[in-house]
Amino acid sequence: MTHLTGLTSRTSPPGDGTPSGHLSPISDGAPPPADALDPQELEAFLARFGADQAAAMHLATVVLGEQLGLYRALAAAGPQTGTELAERTGLSPRLVLEWLRAQAVSGYCEHDPTSDRFWLDPVQRACLADDGGPAFVAGGAPTVSAVHRRIDQVAAAFRGDGTVAWGDHDPALFSGVARAFQPAFETHLLASWIPALDGIDARLRAGGRVADVACGFGVTAVLMAQGYPRATVAGFDQHAPSIAAARQAAAEAGVADRVTFEVTDAAALPGHDYDLVTMCNALHEMGDPVAVCRRVRDALADGGRLMLIEPVAGDTLADNRTPRGRSFLSASTMICLPSALSQGGDRHLGAQAPDADFREVALEAGFRRCDRVAVTPLHRVLQLTP
Ligand SMILES: C[S@@+](CC[C@H](N)C(=O)[O-])C[C@H]1O[C@@H](n2cnc3c(N)ncnc32)[C@H](O)[C@@H]1O
Repeated sequence: MTHLTGLTSRTSPPGDGTPSGHLSPISDGAPPPADALDPQELEAFLARFGADQAAAMHLATVVLGEQLGLYRALAAAGPQTGTELAERTGLSPRLVLEWLRAQAVSGYCEHDPTSDRFWLDPVQRACLADDGGPAFVAGGAPTVSAVHRRIDQVAAAFRGDGTVAWGDHDPALFSGVARAFQPAFETHLLASWIPALDGIDARLRAGGRVADVACGFGVTAVLMAQGYPRATVAGFDQHAPSIAAARQAAAEAGVADRVTFEVTDAAALPGHDYDLVTMCNALHEMGDPVAVCRRVRDALADGGRLMLIEPVAGDTLADNRTPRGRSFLSASTMICLPSALSQGGDRHLGAQAPDADFREVALEAGFRRCDRVAVTPLHRVLQLTP
C-alpha cells in the first residue's frame, strides 16, 4: 500500500483566471482613492472577473446544449451550418446559430468562416458529447444552474440558522452531482482506489459485504457490484428520491439481485460485518461526522475498512487557490455546509477540510489510523483503519 503524504500543489496554468498563490497584504478597511489603485493590478483583477462572468454566462449554454442534444448532434454529423444543425435537432434555426457562435467564441467548437460551418474537435467531442466516456464533463454543468436557483434560500440561511437540507435543493443538483462524478468513479474506483486499501480487493473478489453510505444515485454501488460479482452491496442514503434513482440504475445495469438500497440516516447504518464501507463526497456535509464514523467502525468486520472519498484539497487555504478549490469552496458555501448545519451536530467540516480534520474525526470515532492512500484530479481517498 502506498501512503501518499504529499498534497497537491497549485498547478493551474497562467491565464486560467486563478489568482496567484500568494495572499495579498491586509487592508485597513478604508477604501483607497481611485487614483491610488495600481492600474496593472486593477486591470488584472478586472480581466479575471470578466473571465469568470463570461464562464458563468457561457455555462448556461452548455446546460442547454447538453439538454437539447446539440453537442451530440454536432458530433454525429461533422462540420455543419446552423441551419443544418437546426434541421437535425428540430430546433429554432436562429437560436441554434447563436448558440453555435457562443460555443465557437468560447472554444467549445470549431468554426470555418468561409463555409460558416461548425464542428467539434476530438477533445471537445470527448468532453461535451461522449456521455459515458471518461472525459465527459458536460453532464455536471447543471449542478451550477441548480445552485443559482437556490441563492435566495441560501441567503435566508445566512440571515437565519444557516441551514438548507440537501433535499431542499433544486432536483437538477441530485442528478447533476451523480453525472459530474460518474466519470471519475468509473475511471478510478475499481482500478486504483479499492486496490489501494489493505487487502480489501482480495476480500471482495472472494465475496464480502459492502455498504455504500450516502450513496446518492447509486453510481459507486452499481460499479462495485459489477466489479465484484461475488460481493453483495448495500446502498444507503437519507434522500428518498436518490434511493429511487439508485434502484433504477441497479435494475438497468442488471445487478439488482446483488445491490439493495434503503433510505436511512448514516448514523443509523443498518447491518454488520461489512468488509468495506464507502462514503463518497458525503462525510464533509454531515452534521455529526464522528457519530457516523463511530457507527461505521462498529459495523465493520475484522480487517474491514472505511474508505472516504472526498473532494481533493490541500492543507491550507493558500493551497486551495486553484480552480478546483474555488469550485469546491463555493459549492461548500452554497450546498455542503448548509446541509451539515441542517443536521445539527457540532463538527461541520465543509468540502475543503484538510486531511488533518478527517483524521481528528476518525480518531475520535475510535479508528486507529486515517491515511491518504490515493489522490486523483477531483478526489482524495482516505483509508480509516479500526
Ligand atoms: C454530494 S452527494 C454525494 C452522492 C454520492 N455518494 C456521489 O458521490 O455521487 C451527498 C449525499 O449524501 C447524502 N447524505 C448527506 N447527509 C446524510 C446523512 N446524514 N445520512 C445519509 N445520507 C446523507 C445526501 O442525501 C446526498 O445523496
